[in-house]
Amino acid sequence: MHISKRLKALADMIPPGSKVIDVGCDHALLSIYLANEKDCTCLASDVNEKAILGAQVNIEKYNANVKTIVTNGLDGLTITKDDYIVLAGMGTATIKKILSDKKLSDYLLIATHNHLEELRRFVVSLGFVIASEKFVIDYDKGYVIILFKRGKKKYSKLDYAYGPMARYDNNYLLYELEKLINIKKDLDNSSFKVRLKNQMEINKLKKLILKGKD
Ligand SMILES: C[S@@+](CC[C@H](N)C(=O)[O-])C[C@H]1O[C@@H](n2cnc3c(N)ncnc32)[C@H](O)[C@@H]1O
Repeated sequence: MHISKRLKALADMIPPGSKVIDVGCDHALLSIYLANEKDCTCLASDVNEKAILGAQVNIEKYNANVKTIVTNGLDGLTITKDDYIVLAGMGTATIKKILSDKKLSDYLLIATHNHLEELRRFVVSLGFVIASEKFVIDYDKGYVIILFKRGKKKYSKLDYAYGPMARYDNNYLLYELEKLINIKKDLDNSSFKVRLKNQMEINKLKKLILKGKD
């Protein structure tokens, strides 16, 4: 079964045979792949009923053993310690709402499409460490996928901003640098403070790319 590079990178970070809760599953292709190719037990959930109807069509098409549910975030779900809770393709604000004040498992696999630093700080504040990070470019867009595990660890500002592992990946740093340089082109009419902040980030990234460490 063919899935996108981003979904494949997510799937690669989940051990075979795991129990998975795919929150915001939409098409449920990740769950279907995990069930069929990695023998995982998957619950595909989404707040949108239409998404779940589409998911069910795919589940039938690929003859996968995947259960579905319509629910907001983790509401009403039974979560056990070893479950892999996957949150992909959602923004950090939504992910924070979903994880707040909830009983969580020991593994959170997250691919947000914005505010990575805020996401790292928030999940670490819930009592997790960053176990691994993977950067992938899919259809010209870059994604950092983060596996959080229960634990305690102190992180530096740089760890939060560019990831304790991702920041050693020059492909990721170059991708971020290009984004900042593109933003710089549009900052001509912005305040000195905004332009300075952008330039400082560019310098920080250039330094990281050259040194590979802080
Ligand atoms: C862009 S899709 C991502 C689909 C899939 N996870 C992926 O990464 O390809 C985002 C999905 O998240 C769902 N979603 C948004 N907020 C949600 C919430 N609070 N609880 C459950 N699902 C939510 C949307 O309905 C949508 O189907």
